[in-house]
Amino acid sequence: MAIQAVRGMKDLLPPESPKWRFIEATAREVFSSFGFSEIRTPILERTELFSRSIGEETDIVSKEMYTFSDRSGDSLTMRPEATAGVVRAFLESKLYAVPGPHKLFTIGPMFRHERPQKGRLRQFHQLDCEVLDDAGPQGDAELLVLAHHLLERLGVRQVTLVLNSLGCPECRPGFKQGLMDYFESRQGALCEDCRRRLASNPLRVLDCKQEGCREISQGAPLISGSWCEACAEHFEEVKRLLTMAGVSYETDPKLVRGLDYYTRTAFEFKTSQLGAQDAVGGGGRYDGLIEVLGGPATPAIGFALGVERLALLLEDNPEWQKGPALFIAALGDEPRDWAFGAAQKLRRAGVWVEMSAASASLKAQMRRANKSGAARVLIVGGEELTAGRAPLKDMATGEQQDLPLEEIVNRLMAAGA
Ligand code: HAM
Repeated sequence: MAIQAVRGMKDLLPPESPKWRFIEATAREVFSSFGFSEIRTPILERTELFSRSIGEETDIVSKEMYTFSDRSGDSLTMRPEATAGVVRAFLESKLYAVPGPHKLFTIGPMFRHERPQKGRLRQFHQLDCEVLDDAGPQGDAELLVLAHHLLERLGVRQVTLVLNSLGCPECRPGFKQGLMDYFESRQGALCEDCRRRLASNPLRVLDCKQEGCREISQGAPLISGSWCEACAEHFEEVKRLLTMAGVSYETDPKLVRGLDYYTRTAFEFKTSQLGAQDAVGGGGRYDGLIEVLGGPATPAIGFALGVERLALLLEDNPEWQKGPALFIAALGDEPRDWAFGAAQKLRRAGVWVEMSAASASLKAQMRRANKSGAARVLIVGGEELTAGRAPLKDMATGEQQDLPLEEIVNRLMAAGA
């Protein structure tokens, strides 16, 4: 049997690939306009980096990582997310010696051994932004505005921003204790994993997907009841700035996220369009992580959007479906030579031009032009070449204009598209 791709890992092929290029190009544009610079970190990291930062008891670390010993016997893991690697690189390169904020983005594949389904893969891709050395609520709001802006530019609608605050080392212990007390008396109904989690990290029980645990979690104490004054003020200010920026949101005091490193603001971009996989993206503040990984105390915040899920939501945005700016239908040898020269001239100016290579009939060429999604079609035969004029058809409106050939080429070159 022919060798097939690994389960949960997909090839990216046309016509899907232009959509991804559109997503990535738009993201890069938006990231640049907010002053973000690109960082690329390796796919393989030491396993300990993830267990220490994401948390031993999370599903990601306990069940989903691609971990193996390499030929030197080192335990390595294919990154399940980008944040830990970005923080490691930040520390290793001593970027913290330069005053922040450091605004970094990365785009690339992540790996989690989950059960594949629509919108859930084992190799998936994230658009990830991290802001290191930025403590204030304005940093949270700016990042959320950025994400909102990006979703808008992509034409992804029907996404709700859901916010919560997970407290800080000041108020979280009180909340944890409250959770422990609540769950301890109901231990018998919790799943095995949660009974273990209870002692080490009761917040993880709130994120359990088992029906029984979810039911019990419904009545658990809410973090909002434990916030210290500073956390409550921080959250209020984030919300005020979002409202001012016209970014709508909902709050959910039960939102906990699947990674342990969050403090204060945590959020998800949710949609009802993708069935069970309702998160298009998520993130939050991780003020303690850099210290946990051996660096100086440095507040930070970030988010990641899943490219596969964005692509599913982008179905009918006409932007990524753009075809060539011009299709030249040439009839006869001389017109074809002219078309060949004109196409090269235009392509050198960055204009996407297509033409038929073979001496196909006008009907066949028009069929190809249609299929290519070209914005315009130019029909050049012997007569047109002699006259120096030809009909240029706008494929969207069906309008046809008889124009000098030179003018057509010059106009398109000037427009660059
Ligand atoms: P996360 O919520 O684990 O956060 O993942 C972010 C997004 O990645 C999800 O909302 C989803 O769109 C996508 N994603 C996750 N797993 C899969 C999968 N198996 N298949 C397809 N898409 C998936 C993080 O990874 C954090 N590092 C985000 C962050 C950055 N927090 C602070 N900075």
